[in-house]
Amino acid sequence: MPAWLKNSVFYEVYPQSFLDTNSDGIGDLCGITIKLDYIKDLGCNAVWINPIFDSPFMDAGYDVRDYKKIAARYGSMSDFEKLLEEAHKRDMKIIIDLVPGHTSDTHEWFLESKKADKNEYTDRYIFTNSTWEAPPEYKLVCGMCERDGNYMVNFFSSQPALNYGFHNITHPSWQKSPDDCECIKTVDAMKDIMRFWLDKGVDGFRVDMADSLVKNDDEKIATAKIWRGIRQMFDEDYKDRVLISEWSDPMKAIVNSGFHADFYLDHPHNGYHYLFRNGRGEENKSFFADHAKGNIKDFLNDYIPAYECSKNKGYISFITNNHDMPRAPFYMSDDIIKLSHAFMMTMPGVPFIYYGDEIGMRYIENLKSKEGGYSRTGARTPMQWNSEKNLGFSDADSDMLYLPIDKSEDAPTVLCQQGVSSSIYENLKAVIALRRQYPELSNDSEFEVVYAKENEYPFVYKRGEFIIFVNPSDDKKTLNFASNGKSEIYSIGKYEMTSSSVTIGDRSFLIIR
Ligand code: GLC
Ligand code: CA
Repeated sequence: MPAWLKNSVFYEVYPQSFLDTNSDGIGDLCGITIKLDYIKDLGCNAVWINPIFDSPFMDAGYDVRDYKKIAARYGSMSDFEKLLEEAHKRDMKIIIDLVPGHTSDTHEWFLESKKADKNEYTDRYIFTNSTWEAPPEYKLVCGMCERDGNYMVNFFSSQPALNYGFHNITHPSWQKSPDDCECIKTVDAMKDIMRFWLDKGVDGFRVDMADSLVKNDDEKIATAKIWRGIRQMFDEDYKDRVLISEWSDPMKAIVNSGFHADFYLDHPHNGYHYLFRNGRGEENKSFFADHAKGNIKDFLNDYIPAYECSKNKGYISFITNNHDMPRAPFYMSDDIIKLSHAFMMTMPGVPFIYYGDEIGMRYIENLKSKEGGYSRTGARTPMQWNSEKNLGFSDADSDMLYLPIDKSEDAPTVLCQQGVSSSIYENLKAVIALRRQYPELSNDSEFEVVYAKENEYPFVYKRGEFIIFVNPSDDKKTLNFASNGKSEIYSIGKYEMTSSSVTIGDRSFLIIR
């Protein structure tokens, strides 16, 4: 386990929307380099950058055309090398996206694979044996190739699935075993790509759809075996680099596959969903919501087993949001967001902050889809830095921007929140600082539930010598609690302590030692 993960807080940069330095309306690598000091000042010491590779951008870069080439719109390879160098100078880490499950349908491998004549790449993707063979249980694109067969896709039609084989073979004429030498060649090709970037000095990968490799593999047995092989490569040759999975199943991702960390994403009926994304408005049943009436047990029933099984092997990563879902203000008001940040920054694991979440940037509704974003587009708008043109994102004319900036009068910006102690920005910065300051709050220090009752508030938990109270509800709550000799470390809202009780105010948060 790379030691640096223990104290890391990540910042996710969506490169096209962060900072444009050459006035073409789209964010770029130089923009990220310029803002490293900003990211570090917020308290983050590691950055995840979404795909920056050559691509036709049918899925905003998750459709890779050339894994070893930087997309021209983001700059050059030397810009990337400069970014790495500047980050490392500041003792910061950079991880990039690895998209191992599929490529763009314009990738050279696929252009070869879809040819009628057999060649080196014929089996790099999954094709049926005839255009008339299209079993409905598989996601197949039909009638698009010279080759007589249909190909399987992972996500959009432009993203053909790479061939890592099938765990349960239902159609032996076209499905291969993961041990087939053609499938092993796919794994080797992916390892070669990883080595290319690791040798340049990247600190690891965020792995896109990490569970998607082997097909008909419900228990992910064969997929996990591939990842264990890759983890072995890391342990042997790249000990200080990390693998972080988009999976949201710590048992499979961390314990069985060897990922160093796994994202806690909004999946139906999981703990993340019950905490933050369980409905909207009147219908909002999340634990963190306005007029909150959620159930902390729904979170704990999911989280505790996952935490217990994985805690000595890897980290669960809380995220403030990411590029795939509406931002927090779509669901909750600013003071609830502050409590949710304070909670996430005091839980175990490796936390991730999505760019703009530190100022409560809003989800922009009803935007026309951009590059396959669809409903995700509104969570990908330009970063709001200051009150200058395009809120400081770009000097280009506004109709040239990658996506429109938030046009509302009160659009939050970094400039208007910095130095304002009640702001989302200063609140988040303060709790990150606590996390970095106190070993009790570090990523792997112990976690224990102190008070959690079905459909009740507050939630109280222990990290080492610290006791943490979080109460997003509208009512203050008093708990019997021997608080002699205990002192406040940090609080939001109101609280009262007597020698035998703690009263935690409505919409309040408290850490005591
Ligand atoms: C992941 C990415 C998402 C992308 C999809 C297909 O879920 O986060 O943005 O569209 O994979 O690669
Ligand atoms: Ca630019």
